[in-house]
Amino acid sequence: MAGGGISTAFDTFFSSWFPIIFALIGGFAFAFRQYLRGTPYQSKKQLKKETVLVTGATSGMGQAAASDFASRGARVVMACRDIEAGQKVAKEIQKKTNNTNVTALHCDLSSLDSVRKFVEEFKKCESQLHILINNAGVMMCPKTLSTDKFEMQFAVNYLGPFLLTHLLLDIMKASAPARIVNITAHAHQLGSINFDDLNHDEDYNPGHAYAQSKLAVAMFTITLAKYLEGSQVIVNCMNPGIVNTNLHRHMPFRAHSFINLCFSPFIWYMFKKPEDGINTIMFCALEDALGNTSGKYFVECCPVNWHESTQDEDVQKKLWEESLKWTNLKLKS
Ligand SMILES: NC(=O)c1ccc[n+]([C@@H]2O[C@H](COP(=O)([O-])OP(=O)(O)OC[C@H]3O[C@@H](n4cnc5c(N)ncnc54)[C@H](OP(=O)(O)O)[C@@H]3O)[C@@H](O)[C@H]2O)c1
Repeated sequence: MAGGGISTAFDTFFSSWFPIIFALIGGFAFAFRQYLRGTPYQSKKQLKKETVLVTGATSGMGQAAASDFASRGARVVMACRDIEAGQKVAKEIQKKTNNTNVTALHCDLSSLDSVRKFVEEFKKCESQLHILINNAGVMMCPKTLSTDKFEMQFAVNYLGPFLLTHLLLDIMKASAPARIVNITAHAHQLGSINFDDLNHDEDYNPGHAYAQSKLAVAMFTITLAKYLEGSQVIVNCMNPGIVNTNLHRHMPFRAHSFINLCFSPFIWYMFKKPEDGINTIMFCALEDALGNTSGKYFVECCPVNWHESTQDEDVQKKLWEESLKWTNLKLKS
């Protein structure tokens, strides 16, 4: 009797509109999810003779990018603030990709001294560098100052990478053709460089400080591209979109475990996975069609116009000159 009841319910269900409605909703949800994952970048390029440096490779997009480069046979150096976590991730990547040339070195981008020590160590171990991915970052952290007394987001997202990149330019020029990929965010469009109160001492807003740091990354890319003209070292900037990583740890939806749990399904559905987030990083690092393209901004594997906030040449110049002073760098003329 019970079997007969179930079979009648099935018959009723399948002879109704419900299966078609469910299939349409499911199909639409799947298609929308694929759209949210962004433009895929598929390249079979191998990097058997290339050395790649990825900063912030202990999690998120840095880890995914390091793994992708390793799977192409590159020598991969991961610059990590937490060296134990870095060594653990390096071992996992070695196992997953069958590439033993994956190593982690300590580098805390919030300390200019640590950046200098890292570069010394890197140059002792490596004679070449073909690809530098300036990936490490922090977002919307509470007001903190770096070792050198700069606002933390400005220090980690911009000033540390500014120094790191400059100290590596000699080895990159010697290894040319070489590429630098800087990571910015949509937020750079809302930023301004507040030279009079760089650390936002008067009124700290974590969002404004993040936007300032990412605008600085964008302007650095433009000025560095001009500086590197003719060197066969190109530098471009990319924006990955919204990716499900630890970066959002200070955001209200992540900061509290209960709210985090409630938001998890939404985040899982709406945000990109780190493997999707790196598509444009890999495009900027590998795509042959880019040729000598330098100083450009990429979203979803396509060049897009820079936002007007990045275009003030006086601010670009001042930022470059001040950054040289802040990092105590003297450029060879
Ligand atoms: N996720 C997004 O939606 C999104 C959107 C736009 C742009 N971005 C940018 O994408 C980049 C990668 O972020 P993600 O989303 O992959 O975040 P993530 O998972 O939090 O990764 C950030 C990485 O940076 C490292 N890091 C933080 N502070 C550092 C320091 N002082 N010195 C050296 N390394 C440090 C972290 O190391 P620890 O493990 O030690 O913390 C971690 O490995 C960032 O530049 C971010 O601004 C992300």
